[in-house]
Amino acid sequence: MPLEGMATLDDVNLEGKKVLVRVDFNSPVSGEELLDDSRIRAHVPTIKELLDKGASIVLISHQGRPGEPDFITLEPHAAKLSKLLGQTVQFVDDVMGPEARKRIKSLKPGEVLLLDNVRFLAEENINAPPERQAETYLVRRLAKLFDLYVNDAFATAHRSQPSIVGFPMVLPGVMGRLMQREVEALSKIFNPKESPKVFVLGGGKVPDSLSIIENIIQNKVADRILTTGLLSELFLVAKGIDLGDKNMKFLERKGILSLVPKARRLLLMGAPIDVPVDYVTLDEETGEVKVEPVYNLTGVIRDIGPATVKMYSELIKEAKIVVMRGPAGVMEDPRFRTGTKELVRAALESGAFTIFGGGHLTAVIEELGMKERVGHISTGGGALLAFLSGKELPALSALKVSASKFGLVK
Ligand code: 3PG
Ligand code: MG
Repeated sequence: MPLEGMATLDDVNLEGKKVLVRVDFNSPVSGEELLDDSRIRAHVPTIKELLDKGASIVLISHQGRPGEPDFITLEPHAAKLSKLLGQTVQFVDDVMGPEARKRIKSLKPGEVLLLDNVRFLAEENINAPPERQAETYLVRRLAKLFDLYVNDAFATAHRSQPSIVGFPMVLPGVMGRLMQREVEALSKIFNPKESPKVFVLGGGKVPDSLSIIENIIQNKVADRILTTGLLSELFLVAKGIDLGDKNMKFLERKGILSLVPKARRLLLMGAPIDVPVDYVTLDEETGEVKVEPVYNLTGVIRDIGPATVKMYSELIKEAKIVVMRGPAGVMEDPRFRTGTKELVRAALESGAFTIFGGGHLTAVIEELGMKERVGHISTGGGALLAFLSGKELPALSALKVSASKFGLVK
């Protein structure tokens, strides 16, 4: 019963209601240009349903993190959503100040307003328990302008931030259709009959991934974890393998070497973690691309090698459920795309129920023309792994509290 204790759009009356909807519009950008709109697209069904049922909608989202290059205004997102919805999406470059409040108050049924990047507010960048987040200025100033709170931001559901856990403490809170679809599809993973479960993990945010792996292991969710990318480099170093000067220096610069003791602890606990046996490397001086075994690397690691692809593909073939997150290499460069592509292909050909996270893999699935074989593509990255690791996500706990507090579920 994945949705137990939470209310959905089916449990509330929306006619004439002013609704605050937490979405996750956080997208890859270049300057103020959006490079991918799949996260925005994913919220369209929820927004359309709310409009059809006579609500007025205020959308609230973050984009990037303070100090990062993708920490920008949501103005381009409003323009994109207008196109996708086929109706004007109003935008205000304010979150909780007088202008934002005025615009929220004057919004009419059938209208949509997007507030600016909620992480422009210091409060939103702090993780704290729901009761504390309910006391932030953001929640105190905005909550009284609304009848209902809808959380559709599955991809941010692992953050205990005010816009995620504060509002549902003081407003009746329900899940949106995207949140509902994600939770329903991903809950399959907890069925003990669906075994073996193979996780294929790559991509960035290594510290996050490592904490998640710890959970996955504690809760015995995965039978095997196949690592790629930087994560795999970390585990190889933890096993005592020297990846060569250039790669070791890179790991040090990125702060990844400091994670070695933690990775080693996981290995010592008997974690079912697999590592590559070869990589595709680049000699940055000569431009030469080579396949090299992990114990004799001279170039800079760019992708997993063919022997690794073969070994991982065999393991994937046996799986009942495959979860893949993050690319296996620097796939923006076509020379280093093969590893990711072949692992995605192996997963889709395996007959297993497949779960994919992150935009990179979606692009590969489309390239392979195998979309109809996919089990579920999640909008979540960190949230996806946190959910699958068996942790209760703060967003969902808050919605449960809200449903019971406001009598939304029997
Ligand atoms: C994501 O992209 O993973 C979500 O939007 C959450 O962003 P965060 O990791 O900066 O909290
Ligand atoms: Mg994240």
